[in-house]
This record gives sequence, C-alpha cells and structure tokens, in this order.
Amino acid sequence: MTFEHLLTVKDLDKATIEQLLAQAIDLKNNPQDYQQALAGKSIATIFEKPSLRTRVSFDVGIQKLGGHAVYLDQQNGALGKRESVKDFALNLSCWVDGIVARVFSQKTLEELALYGSVPVINSLSDLYHPCQALADFQALVEQFGSVEGKTLAYVGDGNNVTHSLMLTAAILGCNMVVVTPPGHGVDGQVVVDTQALCAKSGASLTISNDINALKGVDAIYADTWISMGDETPFEVIAEKFMPYQVNKKLMVMSGAKYFMHCQPAHREQEVTSDVLDGKQSIIMQQAENRMHAQNAVMLALLK
Ligand code: CP
Ligand code: NVA
Repeated sequence: MTFEHLLTVKDLDKATIEQLLAQAIDLKNNPQDYQQALAGKSIATIFEKPSLRTRVSFDVGIQKLGGHAVYLDQQNGALGKRESVKDFALNLSCWVDGIVARVFSQKTLEELALYGSVPVINSLSDLYHPCQALADFQALVEQFGSVEGKTLAYVGDGNNVTHSLMLTAAILGCNMVVVTPPGHGVDGQVVVDTQALCAKSGASLTISNDINALKGVDAIYADTWISMGDETPFEVIAEKFMPYQVNKKLMVMSGAKYFMHCQPAHREQEVTSDVLDGKQSIIMQQAENRMHAQNAVMLALLK
C-alpha cells in the first residue's frame, strides 16, 4: 500500500505497518546503509506545543538520513493566526519536501495535507499520536517477536496516545484493554473505528473502568493524566485517578511482563518511580525507537 501522509494510523493497512516496523528495525540495526537516503530533502518540523523526544528525534533522525530539518518553534504561534493554514501550507510547499507538525487540532493537519503539495506527518494532535504508536509497536515486536494474539493494556486518561495505540493494535491483531476512570474514557468514534478494525483482524478491544480488567495482560502502558493544553490542576483529578496509578502492586496483579510510557512521565502520579526505573520498564527502548520509526515513515513518504 502507498500512503501520501501520516495523519493517523487509520491511513495504513496491516502489511504497510508491518513493513514500516521491519524498516524501522533495519534502520536501527544498519544505520550505515541509510546515510544518504534523504540527501537533498528538506523537512519542516512545526511545534504548536512543547516537545523533547519528538523535536530531537526528528531533527537528529533527518540528519542521520542525510536530509535537512527546518525547525519552526512555538514562537511562530498557533497555525492559522498570522496567516491561514492554507497559505502557510502553500508557501511551505514551495521550499520543503515534507511537513512534520505537532498541533492542537487534527483539523489543522488535514488542512496542511489538503492545501500543501508535500507529505504531512502528524507528530501529535488532540486526537492521535501515530509516530508514538509505531515506535511503541516496534518495541513490542522487538520484545515479543510478533504482537498477534498478545494483549496490551492502557491505564489512565483516554487520550491521543490511547487512540493511536488502540487503532494500531487492532490493525496488527493485538488485543487491547483500556482502563480509565469514569468520565475520562476514549473518543467514541475511535472506539467504533477500532471495533471495525478488530472485526477484520480478529483482535479484541476491552474497555473498562475496573483495574481488575488488567489481569493477564502482557504489557501495561501509562501516560500523563493531564495532556498538554488541558489546564486542569492536578489536585482536582488526583483522588479520581490515584486508584489507576501503575505501581508494583498493580504490575504484580496484572501479571504484565513489561511497563510502557510515552513520556514525559510524572513520577508518583500515573506511575511510581520503582516501576518507571524498574527491570520491566521499556520506556527508553520506546524513546529510542521514535527516531527509527519516524525515519521509516519519512523514507516511505519522501524517498
Ligand atoms: N512522547 C513524546 O511525544 O514526547 P515529547 O512530547 O517530548 O515530544
Ligand atoms: N497525551 C500526552 C502525550 C504527550 C507525549 C499529551 O498530549 O500531552
């Protein structure tokens, strides 16, 4: 399958994701083979929100493929303020070969893709974080060999990261358990989309408010309880979320082999330090894979 943009993993089929993960693993193992893969290509990376991992992994990753990254930081303000997203996309397309964008709204990405004439990669929006999910599934494939029939659990606030994990798991035939506090569940349309993909792949999706649903899973994934752009003070949600904290007791109860987190992590909030820093934690493998998974996407879209 060829794809023009990566706005959501829904744009990809199973074979394409498997190819991207295989390519990411090869990029990781044989970097010397790809030093000129994006020679002469310029890629704009745009950030409406803060970032460490995404900003650095794209910048360094593009350089490792012989390309050139142009970083547009938050000082440029939200897209669409100084000039329309349409004009922004038309102008950028005159000079660059690809656009990577972290935005408040998925709609901004859709407009960039519609009006620009170069591939657009979603590096986090309100709805999705596809680059994160690809890096995470690369880590799971590296650990398990295959994710088919395995069960990944997400616990905490239903958010952009959860959505991309759900969709990727469903496409790849990996079962998924999502446990959130009442009132903090995942997007209804994403559930419908995931269920449709599960029907195709044979994977299961379990959604619950009960942490007992985590029993028997293979890996547990946590993310911040308050995503970027949400101004809710921690004290307001602490009591509601604390029963969903990933700690030693929860890890033992679940029987999970691995702990995962996209980071930034909030120690002693969604996860305790002993789990985050412990032997079961594969968070740095996920972080490292961000660069390789993204480079695989850029090779597929730009080469
Ligand atoms: N996981 C992730 O996207 O990290 P940053 O927000 O630091 O880019
Ligand atoms: N859900 C988090 C992910 C950060 C990488 C957020 O949107 O802030």
